[in-house]
Amino acid sequence: MTAAGGQDKLVIIGQGYVGLPIAMRAVETGFSVVGIDLDASRVSSLREARSYVGDVSDRELAAALESGRYLPSDSYVDAERFTAAIIAVPTPLIGGTPDLSFVESAAASIAPHIRHGSLVVLESTTYPGTTEELLVPLLEQGSALVAGVDFAVGYSPERIDPGNTTWTLTNTPKVISGVNRSSLRAVEALYSRLVSTTVAVSSTKEAEFTKLLENTFRHVNIALINEITLFARQLGVDVWKVIDAASTKPFGYMRFTPGPGVGGHCLPVDPTYLSWRVRRELHRPFRFVELANEINDMMPHHVVKRIGAILARRGKGLADSVVMLLGLAYKANTGDVRGSPALCIVELLMSLGARVEVVDPLVEPHRCPPGVKPIELSEDALRLADIVVLLADHDDVDYPLVERAADCVLDTRHRLTAAHVEYL
Ligand SMILES: NC(=O)c1ccc[n+]([C@@H]2O[C@H](COP(=O)([O-])OP(=O)(O)OC[C@H]3O[C@@H](n4cnc5c(N)ncnc54)[C@H](O)[C@@H]3O)[C@@H](O)[C@H]2O)c1
Repeated sequence: MTAAGGQDKLVIIGQGYVGLPIAMRAVETGFSVVGIDLDASRVSSLREARSYVGDVSDRELAAALESGRYLPSDSYVDAERFTAAIIAVPTPLIGGTPDLSFVESAAASIAPHIRHGSLVVLESTTYPGTTEELLVPLLEQGSALVAGVDFAVGYSPERIDPGNTTWTLTNTPKVISGVNRSSLRAVEALYSRLVSTTVAVSSTKEAEFTKLLENTFRHVNIALINEITLFARQLGVDVWKVIDAASTKPFGYMRFTPGPGVGGHCLPVDPTYLSWRVRRELHRPFRFVELANEINDMMPHHVVKRIGAILARRGKGLADSVVMLLGLAYKANTGDVRGSPALCIVELLMSLGARVEVVDPLVEPHRCPPGVKPIELSEDALRLADIVVLLADHDDVDYPLVERAADCVLDTRHRLTAAHVEYL
């Protein structure tokens, strides 16, 4: 099968949590899509209509393949004569420093295929300035063409929230930008076919910053409520009741809830892209981000401390206890374990000698940390555990069974309601 050439050939570089849903949406709206990923095992899985991304079903993938307009590929040769390309590759941190090597490699690989009139858009999250300072020179060098004149370049941050069925790729407004007016027009023409609302900003820097503001806002507010949670109990106050009461205010307050820490590809990483840039360019700290990192990183330790204290009250030590963790993913309704605080909790518990069991049907078994056996939720396993700890509150879990069969439960998400359940 080949994805047809012609004026609607869209190349999506990176077929992960971001790139694959965009590819599916683009096929649905009539584009011929080449989904390029250097991970050959991911490409063969896609070719066999086996999705590894929660928000894309096998059925949806099969329909895209059957349409003849979706070609998963691990070769940039298939990008030949593309009209538009979207780059959605990882932007991790290495030792607290942005690692843009994936963006650099994608740019260098797509550049030779750029022609007059092509469009390249970066969607990976990154610090303000990346598109103009890093992407454009690589594209110009590899194509021998001029960005903004011969071909268009833009930046559009991805806002997908894995597992969220209310706000999807299609109905979430999409911020768009271009390196100049003609580029912005090309970016607008592309995304107005993919999403219901586009929000144009005046520079790629502004668009890059917008994404970091959104995630820093979330990161800092989660840290605020986490820090309050660390001391509310000692003040004799149930923080969840306070949050519920504050959330009745119809203006000037936004509900955030505590948890075992932050994870995923965004919150533990993106705000640090901004603080890194501020430090490097302006030689000053971005104190909110640094404090939020510190507090959120403390939460797994707090959870383990609570587990130890609850067990101690029951005359048990962590060293001879079976601890069942419900949910290994970093949040509800996703199988993504990247940066999940549950991984840190597993490590801490094991270092203290606990026997750890994990129940998470959404996480592929090989993603479980070494030494931990994933098990299925059952009445027997619940009864045998010394403590059951709810970490990621997936919807499809038999919570009444948990409440009935487990007599010692710590719920870090405030999902359970039985009288014997304890909370953060
Ligand atoms: N996951 C999210 O919820 C989310 C939300 C918003 C923004 N983002 C951002 O989007 C970007 C992508 O994140 P993701 O979660 O989709 O990552 P991912 O790891 O799920 O997928 C990225 C894919 O890119 C592939 N890849 C790496 N280098 C490549 C190259 N040179 N050519 C082709 N393929 C290559 C990898 O093999 C991988 O399959 C990141 O910058 C992330 O911060 C992620």
